[in-house]
Amino acid sequence: MSDLTLKSVKSLPKNFIWGAATAAYQVEGATQEDGKGINMWDEYLSKNPLYNPNPASDFYHRYSEDISLASKYGLNAIRLSISWVRIFPNFDNKVNRQGVQYYHNLFKCCLENNVTPYVTLHHFDSPQKMIETGDWLNRENIDKFVEYAKFCFREFSEVSHWFTINELMSLASGQYITGAFPPNHKNNLSEAIQAEHNMILAHSKVVLAFHRICKKGRIGCILALKPGFPNDKNSEADKEATKNYEVYNNVFLLDGILLGKYRTNTLKRMQNILSINHAKIKIETDDLEIMQKAAPLNGMFGMNYYRSEFIKSQEGQIKGIGSFANRNDISKTAWGWNIYPKGLYVMLKRISKNYPRLPPILITENGIGLDEKQSKNDGIIDDDERITFLDQHLYQLLKARSEGVNVIGYFIWSLEDQFSWVNGYGKRYGLFFVDFESQKRFIKKSALWCQKLSATMTEV
Ligand code: BG6
Repeated sequence: MSDLTLKSVKSLPKNFIWGAATAAYQVEGATQEDGKGINMWDEYLSKNPLYNPNPASDFYHRYSEDISLASKYGLNAIRLSISWVRIFPNFDNKVNRQGVQYYHNLFKCCLENNVTPYVTLHHFDSPQKMIETGDWLNRENIDKFVEYAKFCFREFSEVSHWFTINELMSLASGQYITGAFPPNHKNNLSEAIQAEHNMILAHSKVVLAFHRICKKGRIGCILALKPGFPNDKNSEADKEATKNYEVYNNVFLLDGILLGKYRTNTLKRMQNILSINHAKIKIETDDLEIMQKAAPLNGMFGMNYYRSEFIKSQEGQIKGIGSFANRNDISKTAWGWNIYPKGLYVMLKRISKNYPRLPPILITENGIGLDEKQSKNDGIIDDDERITFLDQHLYQLLKARSEGVNVIGYFIWSLEDQFSWVNGYGKRYGLFFVDFESQKRFIKKSALWCQKLSATMTEV
């Protein structure tokens, strides 16, 4: 194994939340065990066998080994999600106690290992019956989500940190723009933006319920923020397209979650984008009242960051927001994602300036997908490319923090290799390599890097 000297980041702040993230459906496997119901991916993948969600990383049976690894390699937190259909298999109010027990066992294991669980209620995995009834577009499903959340708050009193929904934009876009996620609608901007607004409303209702039920703990939402930069800084057209892209991708959601309203300029730009694409959104007055009440009660804010985009005015799939330039001067992952650590800094500074009442920020996902093979030598997989990626992003995070941005933690995507929704098992993100045949875990060098940095938190 090559040398493990720390690079740009030499130490972590004291009490820093230093974790890794997972999502239930991507790691658990066991899709038909212990009374679990059917979610949108079970149904979709059974008809379109792009990959097998079973046994995934077999986390359902091996969580205790994985949590021990997290602890051993210096992590003090883990992001997990609950699979809604393990708790309510039929999308009604009948509880599946086996599913509930599984999560009690899992959370207990985290706490015994001093790895604090940060739990997401919805990570891209709506129950199949929810999809069949319009998913987030059906307002009755918002109330079902609130009931599911209330049950979780009452039942899992050992959990103090909750996230409502993961990446509203990625979900809505996958479902209604690119069509890569069930129900696979394409180019339907009205559905995408309506689903986003309805998820903001769902988040807000759950935040209010949380504060009625829980006396302690924090709750927040997770957005994937992907900053846009004008491709040609001197082009007015690129600059204008970038402003619209920002509203479309980031600001509309940030306003809804953090301000509980859409600012006039945000709404104006969004209405304009909708109108040139012959799309519409319906926002009820009552929705805004609920959002207003909930916004100040967010106890934390989760930001996922993978990449930035350079926007050229030339039209893309959606009119008005330009399209992504392919820049030769920006390095990319093997899947073509721009590697741009500075974007993390810029976005952190931007949100802390534009949203003065912003609660503490956690980077809830950041990482790089690599095509990795098992090591033939000492068993440790040399993933220097990942260490460089993480180090550079963490450096930008700490820079923003040193300039006053209240960012209190960082979760690496991901704890272990798992499947990627649209890329299957070939795109690995883990700190631990999973041999999907034997389900054996192997250490990657990045796990040792985590351990080494973690030790700097306790040094005097
Ligand atoms: C985030 C999701 O959008 O990106 C994760 O929250 C996902 O669930 C991750 O796996 C990486 O995306 P991909 O497509 O490379 O797996």
